[in-house]
Amino acid sequence: MSGMSLTSASLYDRVQRVIPPIEWPVFSDDIDAILALKRERNAVILAHNYQTPEIFHCVADIVGDSLALARKAMTVEADVIVLAGVHFMAETAKLLNPGKTVLIPDMAAGCSLADSITPEDIRLLRQRYPGVPVVTYVNTSAAVKAESDICCTSGNAKAVVESLGVPRVLMLPDEYLAQNIAAQTDVEIIAWKGHCEVHERFTPADIRELREAHPGITVLAHPECPPEVVAEADFAGSTAAMSDYVGQKKPARVVLMTECSMSDNVAVDHSDVDFIRPCNLCPHMKRITLSNIRTALEKNRYAVTIDASVAVRARLAVERMLAV
Ligand code: 13P
Ligand code: SF4
Repeated sequence: MSGMSLTSASLYDRVQRVIPPIEWPVFSDDIDAILALKRERNAVILAHNYQTPEIFHCVADIVGDSLALARKAMTVEADVIVLAGVHFMAETAKLLNPGKTVLIPDMAAGCSLADSITPEDIRLLRQRYPGVPVVTYVNTSAAVKAESDICCTSGNAKAVVESLGVPRVLMLPDEYLAQNIAAQTDVEIIAWKGHCEVHERFTPADIRELREAHPGITVLAHPECPPEVVAEADFAGSTAAMSDYVGQKKPARVVLMTECSMSDNVAVDHSDVDFIRPCNLCPHMKRITLSNIRTALEKNRYAVTIDASVAVRARLAVERMLAV
C-alpha cells in the first residue's frame, strides 16, 4: 500500500469483515496521522503477519513472514523503516540495511525463543560439538546470530540445513522447529530447548476436538508447534506458506494453529473461506499498536542500534541464509 492518497475512510471497506464498526473510530485518527507522517518522514512500515488488521491492512507498506520482511528490508529506499513486529525483526532489518533509521515502536517487544539462548550458550555448544555448523533461527538476538554460521527461518530451514552438505548440524534455539525439520531430512539435527510461548500451547487434543466439532476442517500448523501437533495437521509451514495454502487450495473451512491475528489478516482476502479461530496471542507482537507506531514516527523512537563488531558477524550469517 503506498498510502499516498489513502485516508482511513477509504480503508474501512477493506477490513470491515474483521473490525466491527464500533471499534473503527478508535483507529481512524491514528491511521490518518500515520499515513501523513509516513509521507513527511519518507518512512515505510514493515509489518509481520501477526500484527493486528488495522496495522497490517491499513498502515503497512510491506507485509509478510520473517523471511519476506528480511528480504524486503534489504531493498527499502525510504529514509526510515518502522518495524511493526518484534525486536529481532527490527535488528535483522538494521543488519541488512544499516544506513536506514530502523524504529521499533516498543523496545520490550521480545520473543521467548530469542530469550532462550545467549552467545555464551553457542560458544559452549561449539566446544561440545567441534566442527558442527551452527544454524540459528532468525528469532534470536544479533549477538547470537554473530556466533552462528548461518541463519534460517521457518520458511527455509530445510533448504538451509541441506545447503551445508554436512551429516550433522546444530539447529538453535527452537526445539520443535528442529524436530519438525529433522523429520524431513537425512541430516542429523542437534536441537536446543527453546520454545515459542504461543505455539507450544497447541496440543494434538486441540486438533482432534476441532475435527470432531467441524468435520472436514483443514488444519494448518506453524512448524514452531510441537511435532505431535504438526503430525495431526494437514499442512505445516511458515506464516506465508499458510497464507499461500489458503489462497491456492481455498479450503471451505480452515483453522490456523498459530497466532490470533494471522486468521484475521488472511480472512480479509478470502471471504469464501470459513475461519475457525482458536486463538493464542503473542504478547510481544501485541505490544505494537497504531498509537505507538504514530509516536515512533513523531518522536523518532526507538532507534535500533547494533554494536559494529556484532553487526559484521551477524550480517554474514543472515546474508548466507539469503543466498541459499
Ligand atoms: P514466520 O513468519 O517466519 O513463519 O515466523 C513466525 C513467528 O513466530 C515469528 O515470530
Ligand atoms: Fe516469538 Fe512466538 Fe511471539 Fe513469534 S509468536 S515473536 S516466535 S513468542
